[in-house]
Order: sequence, then C-alpha cells, then structure tokens
Amino acid sequence: MVRSRVLSGVQPTGALHLGNWLGAIRNWVDLQNDHDTFVCVVDLHAITVPHDPARLADDTLTTAALYLACGIDPARTTVFVQSHVAAHSELCWLLNCVTPLNWLERMIQFKEKALKQGDNVSVGLLDYPVLMAADILLYDADLVPVGEDQKQHLELARDIAQQRINARFGSEDAPLLKVPKPLILKEGARVMSLTDGRSKMSKSDPNEGSRITLLDPPDLITKKIKRAKTDPQMGLEFDHPDRPETDNLLGLYAILSGKGRDAVASECASMGWGQFKPLLADATVAALEPIQARYRELMNERSELERVLNQGQQQAEAVAQATVERVRQGLGFLARH
Ligand code: AMP
Ligand code: TRP
Repeated sequence: MVRSRVLSGVQPTGALHLGNWLGAIRNWVDLQNDHDTFVCVVDLHAITVPHDPARLADDTLTTAALYLACGIDPARTTVFVQSHVAAHSELCWLLNCVTPLNWLERMIQFKEKALKQGDNVSVGLLDYPVLMAADILLYDADLVPVGEDQKQHLELARDIAQQRINARFGSEDAPLLKVPKPLILKEGARVMSLTDGRSKMSKSDPNEGSRITLLDPPDLITKKIKRAKTDPQMGLEFDHPDRPETDNLLGLYAILSGKGRDAVASECASMGWGQFKPLLADATVAALEPIQARYRELMNERSELERVLNQGQQQAEAVAQATVERVRQGLGFLARH
C-alpha cells in the first residue's frame, strides 16, 4: 500500500512556542507512524523579514533539535533544512512566473506583516506563500499539517498547482503537480496569546509574556501563567464568546494535562483563577519537561544532529529534483544533463 505523503515546516525565527508545538509539530509526530513524512526547517522563509545573520544558523539547528525532541524520529521522517535543497528556490521561481500578483496581495498574513514592516517590505515577504507552495508541491505532498493561520496559504498552493500549472501545462491523465490538502486538527489549531485571548500566540509579539516557549524554564512558565490575562467572572467555561482568555487557558490545560475537554470542563466549572492557574502551570511544566531534557541531550551531540540533517537533505533532494525536472519539462525548458 502506498502511504500518503505529508510535508510541513516551521520557520527558525525565535524560540518555538506552545502554538507551534500544539498546532503543528505534535501532529507531525502522530502522522509519522502511518505516513511518508517530510519536515523541514524553513530558513529561506525566515529571511523574508529583516533577520540577524549571526543567529540564523544557530536558530536553524535549534529548531531541528526541537523537532527531534518533540518526537520526530529521523528513522521514519525525512528531516531537513529548506535552504539545503536548492530545488525550493528553483521551483519557487517557476511558480512565481505563473502566479498572479493580486493573489499574493490579498494574503492576510502578508498584509499583517507588511503593516509591521512599514516602508521596509521586501519582495520576499510578498512571495512568501509561493515559496511555501514550492515546499509542498516539490514533494507531491498529499497532506499538510498546519495551524489554522496557514489555511489561506494552503489554498493558494492548491490553486497554483491546479489552475496555473496542471491546467495550463499538464495533461489530464498526467498532472504535473499533486494538489495537496491542508490537515488542520481542531484541538490546538489556534493557541492564543496569554496577554490577549483574541490574538494568536506568536513568535513576533514583542511581549515575551504573551507566549510560552518550549525551552522556558519551569519558574518562567509559572510566572507567565500567573500573569496571563483573565476575566473577573467566577467559574471557568469553554466557548463563552466574551471570555476568550478563559477558553484559551482551559483549552491548553485540557491538552497539556492529557485530560481532554470534557473532564476539564467539569473539573474547572466552579474554580477561580487562583486555584486554576497553578494547575495549568504544573501541567505545562510537566508536558515540556521531557522535551527540554531530550533537547539538551541532542544539543550535546551536534555531530549526530548534523548527520541527521545531511541524510535528510539527500533524501529530500532525490524527490525534489524529480519534481523540478517534471515541471521544467512541462514548461518547455531545454533539457539539462
Ligand atoms: P510560525 O511560527 O509562523 O513559523 O508557524 C509554524 C507552525 O505553527 C504553522 O503550522 C502554524 O500554523 C503553527 N502555529 C503558529 N502559531 C500558532 C498558534 N498560535 N496556534 C496554533 N498553531 C500555530
Ligand atoms: N508558512 C508556514 C508558517 O508560518 C511555514 C511553512 C513554510 C510551511 N513552508 C511550509 C508549513 C510548507 C507547511 C508546509 O507556519
């Protein structure tokens, strides 16, 4: 039986947080058992906004180590660094030339990030979703596990593959590119900021108290949760439209404690914050403890980490090269040997 192919990635910008883990990485770990999984560290995406060259390499390695610490197994999953496989940039260019500009101008994430950049918006920031489409389409991915915020980018990748490449350059029985589907699991798909229950937890929020990173030490986690925004109402409940912070913190507790929503809804129904917050802090610390321990081990075995990424590069290249050649041929380029 042919296993369906999964591809995903996270940017190596700043420390990964609970949203990255619960919305994305955790799902990759489950998928690797019965799918053909590829996960990359998308370092080319990390330079679409101004970046620090002194940190890029370290952040890339750290991110890869965290994938493994979260349970990605290099024996079952191809783990690699996006920029190590040149085909990403190459396919991106080919896709650029068939993607309408106005498809990119209406991307929500572009508009949000462009606002933050003021008058320093790079062409790369606008092009971000096309590079992401290239990441996915190179591997003939069937499924792309991401958080809710990436849904629009996935739609774009589908439209580029279907309307702009297959329909124009492929034939009906031999499509050039596989059209991928998003895989957005409900639980954890949108982890919200600790300081504002209506905006998502994000690496780029200037307030560090808004997020818990996977490497935060226990006392810092406890402090951040203690200071997290709440509301004055007694009793904790899910899904109340005026209590986004409550919904978020309860949701985190349900996942991190492993108890699930129903059990947590009844456990916390008559609790106040003073009682609830230490429970959430303990559950968070306990959930992150094994990840942090494994991370420290991995960072002490750098050569092993580099070996994993090297092997990942080779496996990824084999698949990606074949796709680029197929698309080159479809677009009519002179063959290269
Ligand atoms: P980023 O941090 O933007 O590089 O996102 C990497 C992955 O984490 C993507 O799959 C996102 O959808 C996911 N993600 C980022 N922030 C959150 C969040 N607050 N809640 C759930 N998933 C998230
Ligand atoms: N844009 C994604 C994010 O911010 C990261 C990403 C880049 C990605 N390429 C990808 C995710 C390919 C899935 C598949 O989360």
